[in-house]
Amino acid sequence: MSVVPANIESETLAVGSAEHRRLLGQFFLDTHVEYVPEQLPWPALAEAELARLRSLPFWQEAVSTENVTSNTVAAAAALEADALVRKAIELQGFEEMRHARLLVALTSHYRIPVELPPRFTPRSLESDFLFAGFGECFDSFFAFGLFALARESGFFPPTLVKVFEPVMQEEARHILFFVNWVKYRRSQLPWWRRPAFRLRCAGIILKQVASRVKTARSMGKPQPAGGGSSENFTLTAHQELGTEVTLHRLLEVCLGENERRMAEYDTRLERPRLVPGIAGALLKVIPRSV
Ligand SMILES: [Fe+2]
Ligand SMILES: [Fe+2]
Repeated sequence: MSVVPANIESETLAVGSAEHRRLLGQFFLDTHVEYVPEQLPWPALAEAELARLRSLPFWQEAVSTENVTSNTVAAAAALEADALVRKAIELQGFEEMRHARLLVALTSHYRIPVELPPRFTPRSLESDFLFAGFGECFDSFFAFGLFALARESGFFPPTLVKVFEPVMQEEARHILFFVNWVKYRRSQLPWWRRPAFRLRCAGIILKQVASRVKTARSMGKPQPAGGGSSENFTLTAHQELGTEVTLHRLLEVCLGENERRMAEYDTRLERPRLVPGIAGALLKVIPRSV
C-alpha cells in the first residue's frame, strides 16, 4: 500500500485551490488497497465464535446500507467535471461495491441468512451523495471504536479482525475524502449559492443527528420481541459485543481510533471535525461511569 507522506506540516492548502483539488484526488487513488473479497481467506471459526457472529443483528442492515451507498457513490462520479476527482469518486464507488461483495462473501461463507435488496437507484446525485457521506461520517467514527473494542475483547477472533482491518481503513479514507470534497464543492460555487449549499448540508447533518439521537434515546429501553431495529447499529453495538463498556469509554476509544486512522494521510487535507467535535463535547459532560 502506498500512502501519501503524512509528515508535510509546514504547508497549508487553500480549500478549492488547484493544489487542494489535485491532492484530494491523488491521495485517494494512491492509498487504494487491492483485495478481492471472493478470494479472502475466511478463517475457520469455533462453534461459539460462529454463533456469536451469527447472533449480531446488523447483517441485513449492513447489506442494505452498502447497496445504497455503493450505488449512490458510483452515480455521484458524474457530478464531477474534474477528471482526477471524478476518478477518485468512481474508485470510492468501486470500494463500496466491494464492501457489498465482501458482505455477501462473508454471510454466504458463514451461512448467515440475508436477503439481497434490489439495486438502489439514487434520485438526486448530489443530495444522495451528501446524505450518504454525512451518514458515513457518523457510522465510521463509531465503527472505528467498536471494532477496536471487539478486537481487544476477543469478540472477533484475530483472524477475522485481519480480514476486516482494510475495510475499516477504507472507511477512514472515504470520510476524509468526503469532508474535503464538500469544502471543495462549495468553493466551486458562485458566492451567492454557497449559503444555500451550507444550509442543505446543515439540514442533512441534522437529519443524521436526529436519527442517531432517536437510537441513543431508545438505548436501555426494552426492545420489542425479535431484538428490535438494527438501524444505527454502530450506536447500540457496544451492548452486543459482550464487553462491559461505558458510553464514556466508547467515545474515548472512538476518538483515539479516529485520530490514529486519520494520521496515515497527508496533513494538508482537512480532518473531519464535526463528529469528533460532538464526541469530544459529550466526553466533557458525560460522567466516566455512564
Ligand atoms: Fe462501505
Ligand atoms: Fe465508505
